[in-house]
Amino acid sequence: MSLTTRFTPLLLGSAIALSAAGQVQAEEEDVTIGFIVKKPEQAWFINEQEAATEVGEELGFDVVRLAGEDGQEVLSAIDNLYSQGAQGFVICPPDVRLGPAIMNRAEQYDMKVITVDDRFVGSDGEPMKDVPHLGMSGYKIGQQVGEAIHDEMEARGWDPESVAALRITNEELPTAVDRTTGASDVLLENGFPEDNILDAPQQNTDTNSAFSAASPVISESDEYDHWVIYALNEESVLGGVRATEQYGIDEDDVIGVGINGSGAAFAEFSREEPTGFHGTIAVSSTMHGRATAENLYRWITEGEEPPANTETSGTLMTRDNWEEVRDELGL
Ligand code: GLA
Repeated sequence: MSLTTRFTPLLLGSAIALSAAGQVQAEEEDVTIGFIVKKPEQAWFINEQEAATEVGEELGFDVVRLAGEDGQEVLSAIDNLYSQGAQGFVICPPDVRLGPAIMNRAEQYDMKVITVDDRFVGSDGEPMKDVPHLGMSGYKIGQQVGEAIHDEMEARGWDPESVAALRITNEELPTAVDRTTGASDVLLENGFPEDNILDAPQQNTDTNSAFSAASPVISESDEYDHWVIYALNEESVLGGVRATEQYGIDEDDVIGVGINGSGAAFAEFSREEPTGFHGTIAVSSTMHGRATAENLYRWITEGEEPPANTETSGTLMTRDNWEEVRDELGL
């Protein structure tokens, strides 16, 4: 007699119910998501990935942390996730224009995708609004940078005519354009001379590329007494600050204000002697990592699609208050 024929209809019924319940539970237990970042060595992204892993441990899902520093690496990361049975991933892409190719690959594997920090741009040049996104409110945070620079210039009594603004830019990246435009606008509204804003285009979003971008601009502009420096993130502002040091500009003549509030800034504030790095607008990378991972998990398990676009805000962090702000933001 086969096993099934021994079941009474009632027992058989409950066996089916049990196996269905067991399956739902197994599905819940088996959630795996990827967290792919463009700069795995930067403190901001290390924090995001760690926070995602932590929320996974709390809620019971696995997070595979991966690097995606170029298109090829991102596509292999997605293949890798598929082979591990992942149902989706959070990504900060190395190039926002990879959006359509990344979505293509994800759809082949039926994976759900959320972008963090840098939003995909479609072939029409517009943000891909159908992919849920969480990132800084770039323009507003840029304005906070501009305000911090303006206030500090006033506190030091600098005549704006004698100040050069080093704007380290990355025109291909909307995240960067929004932030640096916000900062420039505030300076201009406060009477900063437009001709004194000098662009230093960087090829990447790290300290080295900013240093290389800033150096020639500084060396060609010795008519200024003071420098203010801003960029899309603190890593880049630090590149600019290092370049002023290289040209022997006194740290008292430099006001650099970044964005992020992560390890790079903490290390700078912890130095015994102050540098030209005045402050940074800190945003909770922990919150970015947790929220996106949790949203993706809920989407996978409960079918609840995350908000189309969530914008986060920031707080000015300087040498004087950095430890307090760090603790407040749970960094
Ligand atoms: C971009 C920058 C990062 C960080 C994030 C935060 O990706 O390159 O340094 O500022 O945005 O949203």
